[in-house]
Amino acid sequence: MASQDKIKKLIDLRTEAKLGGGEKRIESQHKKGKFTARERIDMLLDEGSFEEFDMFVQHRCTNFGMEKTKFLGDGVVTGQGTIDGRLVFVFSQDFTVFGGSLSETYAQKICKIMDMAMKMGAPVVGMNDSGGARIQEGVTALAGYAEIFERNILASGVIPQISAIFGPCAGGAVYSPALTDFIMMTEEKSYMFVTGPKVVKTVTGEDISVEDLGGAKMHASKSGVSHFMVDDEEEGIMIIRKLLSYMPSNNLEEAPITACSDPMDRMDDILNEIIPANPNMPYDMKDVIYTIADDAEFLEVHRHYAKNIIVGFTRMGGMSIGVVANQPSFLAGVLDIESSRKAARFIRFCDCFNIPILTLVDVPGFLPGSSQEFGGIITHGAKLMFAYGEATVPKVTITLRKSYGGAHDVMSCKQLRGDLNYAWPTAEIAVMGAKGAIEVLHGRKMAELNDADKVKFIAETEIEYNEAFANPYNAASYGYIDDVIEPRNTRFRVIRAFQSLQTKKQVNPPKKHSNIPL
Ligand code: HXC
Repeated sequence: MASQDKIKKLIDLRTEAKLGGGEKRIESQHKKGKFTARERIDMLLDEGSFEEFDMFVQHRCTNFGMEKTKFLGDGVVTGQGTIDGRLVFVFSQDFTVFGGSLSETYAQKICKIMDMAMKMGAPVVGMNDSGGARIQEGVTALAGYAEIFERNILASGVIPQISAIFGPCAGGAVYSPALTDFIMMTEEKSYMFVTGPKVVKTVTGEDISVEDLGGAKMHASKSGVSHFMVDDEEEGIMIIRKLLSYMPSNNLEEAPITACSDPMDRMDDILNEIIPANPNMPYDMKDVIYTIADDAEFLEVHRHYAKNIIVGFTRMGGMSIGVVANQPSFLAGVLDIESSRKAARFIRFCDCFNIPILTLVDVPGFLPGSSQEFGGIITHGAKLMFAYGEATVPKVTITLRKSYGGAHDVMSCKQLRGDLNYAWPTAEIAVMGAKGAIEVLHGRKMAELNDADKVKFIAETEIEYNEAFANPYNAASYGYIDDVIEPRNTRFRVIRAFQSLQTKKQVNPPKKHSNIPL
């Protein structure tokens, strides 16, 4: 064959590979309101940066006449490219080829880019749209999944791993995304479950729709499996790009610092007014976050799950910062099982990737009750405490209002290695609130009083208790609070604190790994 013919053959093969399962199937993908694997990669990466690998790989299955049906690339598009100029590795499952189902060779393609990502110290983004293990392949497909799982595990804490679910993700296949750092799902177009509605019906008799069992809304609000719920793939891809902008490419790099035009020392007078006079009145902690952040930017993670705690990424003075904040406007910002798990996981992510943590405290305590105790709030609360206490990244804590009981200790107090702990003058730091404390301390005495005397006694004792504890100065007198700051000056103090902590070095004792209460 002449050179020109050989080149033409290459071009023809490339054209064929780019069509995946063929035009009819691409059309059907579009009709479902979904993009193809390649369109998704084009949207994700910087224009023209995609370098594809293994375009000519085909499956090796000979069961059920499979040798007669082969597609170039075999159902997954893999390669490398850049996002905002930084190297990332990507795989995108192609539903037009055998429903995006995973074969032995398909798994090898994914493993190859994961191995390269580890070698290069670059993030992996996986876009999932697949019917799971390729049924015709049997155990080699299962082995392929396990090869991917092992790489997900080894890469955890070394390079960021992000999963987008843009279609089906069922059976054991869910465990690769579950092993990654963040999961995103498109509303009404994606679902994740270990067993689908048909099996559920057969085994338990329960009738449930795909959407209710494993849709984006369910996973974003009930199970917490999904960190982001998006309307469509374009929004999802935009969020992945933004999410990566807060992260270093690997655990040995510092978190990115960008240019910042928002003045570091602007005074936010609005914050001097934000705490209501009545300590039982809520306010929206997100207003505080948006006010102090650079250009009011905040990427919230787990927005619909355990809303009593807020977690997400922001920038302050151009520094990438992970924010953990109690939310007084939802369940009074109480800590419970879900909020503890949510915050603990986020803190560990930040700590893996050298992203400093800002903690904003307004917490009345842990949620009391049998459902919490039966569910293991002890273990889950301990998990949050463990995550904070183990983290060696710079940690700045601001107590805005309540900081009571065990929750005070858990929320990045000084003794759990909070580096700089500030409080607003409105802070109340105590073992418990006045009412509860008076019940415990004076219960016997109050039982002897008539109703009128009891009311008077409670009012007087409350004043005495609040004077002693409903302020930050008692804690500050012990040095547990480094300074009491004016609320409007919070942005400046937080930025200066993180700037001063940039050279922080703290190392945990050598060990194989810790045993966080899971
Ligand atoms: C081989 C598959 C496939 C699979 C889909 N296809 N899933 N081929 N193995 N797992 C093929 C179909 O035969 C069809 O081929 C094409 O992909 C498109 O599928 P449709 O069913 O026509 O599409 P749709 O109606 O959109 O339904 C999508 C679906 C359904 C819901 C994903 O295909 C489905 O239920 N598939 C099986 C899901 C499943 O149970 N997978 C195993 C999970 S267990 P043609 O040629 O007809 O167009 C698992 C174990 C992993 O994955 C273990 C790891 C530990």
